[in-house]
Amino acid sequence: MDAQREWIERLECDPIEFLGPERSLLPKLDRVRDCIGRLVAADPADLAFVRNATEGVNAVLRSFPLSTGDEVVITNHGYNACNNAARYAAERCGATVSVAELPFPIKSSTQVIEAIDATLSSKTRLLLIDHVTSPTGLVLPVKELIELAHRRGVRVMVDGAHAPGMVPVDLSDLDPDYYTANHHKWLCGPKTSGFLYVRRDWQHEVRPTTISHGANSPGLGKTTFLAEFNWVGTYDPTPILSMPTAIEFLCGLKEGGLAQLMRDNHALVLAGRQKLLDALGCDLPAPADMLGSLASVPLPAEGVGDGESANRLQRRIFHEHAIEVPIFMLNGTLPCLRISAQVYNSLDQYERLADVLRVCLESKRS
Ligand SMILES: Cc1ncc(COP(=O)(O)O)c(C=O)c1O
Repeated sequence: MDAQREWIERLECDPIEFLGPERSLLPKLDRVRDCIGRLVAADPADLAFVRNATEGVNAVLRSFPLSTGDEVVITNHGYNACNNAARYAAERCGATVSVAELPFPIKSSTQVIEAIDATLSSKTRLLLIDHVTSPTGLVLPVKELIELAHRRGVRVMVDGAHAPGMVPVDLSDLDPDYYTANHHKWLCGPKTSGFLYVRRDWQHEVRPTTISHGANSPGLGKTTFLAEFNWVGTYDPTPILSMPTAIEFLCGLKEGGLAQLMRDNHALVLAGRQKLLDALGCDLPAPADMLGSLASVPLPAEGVGDGESANRLQRRIFHEHAIEVPIFMLNGTLPCLRISAQVYNSLDQYERLADVLRVCLESKRS
């Protein structure tokens, strides 16, 4: 926040000089691009900045050359906003959307591969998958899924909204066609900041959702792809410019750097999940190796029967116990609660949540 405040001061002292893309903004963005490129093992020339993952997904889907009869495959654990973008892009072109049904509770990542393999068809042109699923916190086997899709001639867009800072992201190894992520989740950057990676072969197709000067002013970036994303009209670049400071801060929190932070958060979420499972008398809903630092547990249906009662329970836990935790119906049917673990959390907080849950669900039963 301090770093962003400094950037805002500098911007507002001389907005013309600061924001003029051909004056001083471009080298500043390029410095951040280099930093993000190192973090996710990508060539910085293949990375554009976006406000958030929703914008990244929209840019790709709304640029994608779909035709009548084509198919886009999404999953039932996908983020609603991004699945909406897929439906919108498909509808406009006379294409269809098919949903791969991933189980939850789940036993292994093989079930994900099988569900997606069974949904891909000869009409599928694009597969939209999450690196870390939002409602269930599952780390999907993205490398295997990308290889599977490529063998079948299908391009892959990975929505990695939650991934950087939670799990290692190595784009040179994953080799997706498109990958977008937020900096404002597990990298603790200011909202609104994220990136969009596009494989060199497809960069000529992918346009930002806002068409601006970059469409005919190549001076705005080293390539037309970068020029278009570098300037989407007057905007606040300070969340993006603060990212090197946010990453340096996170890397300095533990002796083992970001890798250690991710490992510790993973261990804490597993321990916290176990407290909840013990309180609920519930089996493991997902193997530990499919989790990063988010974890969901199913709740008993007799305690939380529908979306309204899930909302009521979430509000009660917040208002009466000052615990912020999402409670929702997975695919409208399975009540779930999702915890997160970051460096400022500790095991006693999950113990307290487990106690609170016991009391709330007991009082609902009686
Ligand atoms: C998988 C996934 N995609 C996209 C988003 C959307 O993020 P934003 O609203 O920052 O675009 C989220 C947010 O939680 C998410 O979990």
